[in-house]
Amino acid sequence: MKYPTILAIESSCDETSASVIQNGKILSNIIATQQVHQQWGGVVPELASREHQKNIVPVVDASLKQSKVQFSDLDAIAVTKGPGLLGSLLVGTTFAKGLSLALRVPLIAVNHMEAHVLAHFIEEPYPSFPFLCLTVSGGHTQIVLVEDYLQMKVIGQTQDDAVGEAFDKTAKLLGLPYPGGMLIDRLAQKGNPEAFQFPQVAVPNYDFSFSGIKTAILYFLQKNTSQNPNFVQENLADICASVQHTFVKMLISKLKRAAKELQIREIAIAGGVSANSELRKTVIQTGEKYNWNVYIPDLQYCTDNAAMVAIAAHYKYLAGLFADSTFSPDASLAIGQE
Ligand code: KG4
Ligand code: ZN
Repeated sequence: MKYPTILAIESSCDETSASVIQNGKILSNIIATQQVHQQWGGVVPELASREHQKNIVPVVDASLKQSKVQFSDLDAIAVTKGPGLLGSLLVGTTFAKGLSLALRVPLIAVNHMEAHVLAHFIEEPYPSFPFLCLTVSGGHTQIVLVEDYLQMKVIGQTQDDAVGEAFDKTAKLLGLPYPGGMLIDRLAQKGNPEAFQFPQVAVPNYDFSFSGIKTAILYFLQKNTSQNPNFVQENLADICASVQHTFVKMLISKLKRAAKELQIREIAIAGGVSANSELRKTVIQTGEKYNWNVYIPDLQYCTDNAAMVAIAAHYKYLAGLFADSTFSPDASLAIGQE
């Protein structure tokens, strides 16, 4: 069987990305990260859409060039359908529809969260089915039971904020620029993870909650800075290390519980927060203790990228799952929803 050559586009949040996959191998993964949001302390949807508009043609062009692939070689155009920011998704989906019409090749609509999970099939070793994937990003915190490439269900998720959002909001409180998750990770390397304790609320089943802890961190900082205005500067590394340690403990405890109760030892992590060094280290250590086979994506496939959309599209193409040109982007698309 001839495997397809697909151009994939990702524009769900603040990264404009394009990737080409051929015979199941990623040939390019071009990512333009938008810098305009830094000064606003978070993604400004209107600005994100405008940046996608500006970047999409050069990013697609660079992806094809790097792959040494022509438009005429493409068997399909894939694009992220959702979840994400509606205005951002509209740029990618409209572009993909236009290109598919011009080239007379089919369209493939990809769920962004499924793509994060399927990033595990870009490079070996691949997890075997069924596996559990802790998918942690700026908008989501989920434990996904993955039964096959295109068959997965969410068995636990956050009841309020995502862990990536909790990292970014904490960073903002500490005066760090957006997105702060990576900076907290870096500063935490020199800090003591046991320096400060934060209360954790009990959440049922495999669900999570990060809004309580976010408020607890806010009160903790307010109380301490009222007594010592230099508290944050003097304790920055310890605060970052303690916050990060608490978040990682919250994630790992639910992952451990799900693995034990479902008797699954194939364990993966995915999404932007899976770039976190303590989370990566802790999953490996926990895996050694409980005899898990642990799968951690390469850093370039953790945060948003089109290669993960391309690999998801590859499996959808093989299954004959094409989108109608009238499909609409869906800002709140859930896993398992078409
Ligand atoms: O998957 P992603 O790129 O975008 C969404 O789909 O949301 O995830 C972005 C999130 C941001 O909240 C960012 O701060 C967080 O991933 N992040 C990290 C690290 N690198 C990115 N959080 C903690 N530690 C990191 N090293
Ligand atoms: Zn993402």
